[in-house]
Amino acid sequence: MISMHQTYTLNNGVKLPKIGLGTWQVPNGEDTYNSVRAALKNGYRHIDTAAGYGNEESVGRAIKESCVPRKDIFVTSKLESHVKTYDETMNAFEETMNALGFEYLDLYLIHAPWPWSEMGKNCDEGNVEAFKAMEKLYNDGRIRSIGVSNFSISDIKNILTHCDVTPAVNQIGYFIGLDNDELQAFCEDKGIQIVGYSPLAIGYALSNDTIQAMAKKYDVTPAQICIRYDLQKGVVPLPKSTHESRIIENSQVDFTIKEEDIEVLSNIKGDPRQFD
Ligand code: A2P
Repeated sequence: MISMHQTYTLNNGVKLPKIGLGTWQVPNGEDTYNSVRAALKNGYRHIDTAAGYGNEESVGRAIKESCVPRKDIFVTSKLESHVKTYDETMNAFEETMNALGFEYLDLYLIHAPWPWSEMGKNCDEGNVEAFKAMEKLYNDGRIRSIGVSNFSISDIKNILTHCDVTPAVNQIGYFIGLDNDELQAFCEDKGIQIVGYSPLAIGYALSNDTIQAMAKKYDVTPAQICIRYDLQKGVVPLPKSTHESRIIENSQVDFTIKEEDIEVLSNIKGDPRQFD
């Protein structure tokens, strides 16, 4: 499980474990609690949640009730997508901290450049306000690193132009068929780490013929091919599962996909969520 214990160093020196547990769509309560407990028991040290997932309370409780010290776990949460003012961001952060029951957060992201209900709307001013509030929380030591999620190149340029802190992370959907080389190259050039949610395309990638054939070739599972692909692309995958056996499987990715096979996987075009 070498990859689990490896880290990237973010642009402010903070270490980010290379694989995290995702919790999107996992209901608050026993599902989230058990999934986080299982992940921590099996070596995960990076947990991703969001106010919008509604499960911060269970994430926080699972972490507190585990025997892993808080300081050894990297926790990300996100500002709800409709919050685009300075004061509301400050309030939303306190709500997140109350729900998690933490003294500090490792990474706080603007969840999206626009409210989910108004995708594509120009919220440049609001994003700057929200990010400035996050900068204040960062400078006050409440958050160890700050960043963005689902941001395009122009959304990031807006932050770079009007704010002082370069985002440490851009978290985007990233899986075989949906890599985004241009955005990734831009982020890498600015020192912004790409974190990828839904590395299994919420499960749909697992039935793809090419991915299945690749799994046979390497004697691993399709899920492991998908997760390893992200790692070899320099992306931090956030696989999620409510089953301990799969949580373990998703962490056992200590093998190497040959460059020529990465190329084959890269050539799968289109969103794997459409495959079945
Ligand atoms: P489950 O929670 O029942 O294990 P993604 O991380 O891309 O969002 O994908 C998550 C989906 O993939 C969930 O439906 C999860 O279901 C399923 N899943 C996660 N890990 C595996 C695995 N190793 N094998 C098969 N399905 C998996």
